[in-house]
Amino acid sequence: MNLNSGIKGFDKVLGGGFPKNSIVLVIGGPGAGKSIFAEHYVYEGLKKGKKAVFLTFELNKKILLEQGKMFGIDLQEHINKGTLILKEYDMTKTNIVDIFKDLKTTIETNNPERVVIDSLSILSMYAEITAGVEVLRSLDLAPRDIHLSSEVLKRGAVVGLINMLRKYEINALLIAEMAEGHHYLTRDSFSEFLCDGVVKLSVLETSGKRYITVVKMRNAKHDLIPHKLELTQKGMVVKE
Ligand SMILES: Nc1ncnc2c1ncn2[C@@H]1O[C@H](COP(=O)(O)OP(=O)(O)OP(=O)(O)O)[C@@H](O)[C@H]1O
Ligand SMILES: [Mg+2]
Repeated sequence: MNLNSGIKGFDKVLGGGFPKNSIVLVIGGPGAGKSIFAEHYVYEGLKKGKKAVFLTFELNKKILLEQGKMFGIDLQEHINKGTLILKEYDMTKTNIVDIFKDLKTTIETNNPERVVIDSLSILSMYAEITAGVEVLRSLDLAPRDIHLSSEVLKRGAVVGLINMLRKYEINALLIAEMAEGHHYLTRDSFSEFLCDGVVKLSVLETSGKRYITVVKMRNAKHDLIPHKLELTQKGMVVKE
């Protein structure tokens, strides 16, 4: 059984929804619709009585709740019921190691079906700044005698996070900012290889039209064509 995406018309593009226990990267530029996509994703599970965890940073919680409402996504109702655990972290005051520990405990206590991290780009950026060797230790990755470059630290944090999500057989969306005019899809240049799937959201500047493309999805017979995407009053809809 696959997992419904919650985005109208998108399960067909995926070849019948997301494969179970997939860790999927959602990439796109600013305003591409990454957070709205993620809201639909968690809401789909919540409507079916499942639990979800949503991590957000940089004071985005309020915006997220307000924006969701405009598309008929009532996350507040599920926060009140305790079925949605929506956590907002201020990265200037929180250590990434504590966030990982907190996530682990939250997963063990609540057994969520879906987890969203909005965004992985922010998290891995702070891995570099605040945590250092401690991140690798907390994730059971021994620093050994390697020279810790910022690349190694960021990769260590992302690998550790993905391994943890895999251990608990979580369905996850990790949101990443897309690097414009760059050879790689994400700013960090490795997350797209580590995750099971990559969904790209884009806006064609010349026409102002939105598109959604499944760049990669392990264990799925999906197409690779960009599909038109619209933000209607009822939310995100994939057109033919
Ligand atoms: N009510 C609405 N109707 C139509 N489009 C909307 C509406 N509200 C927001 N949008 C569009 O959605 C965009 C925001 O979507 P979203 O927050 O999901 O983007 P994002 O990819 O997460 O951006 P960021 O990288 O800045 O976090 C807005 O820039 C706007 O174009
Ligand atoms: Mg966003």
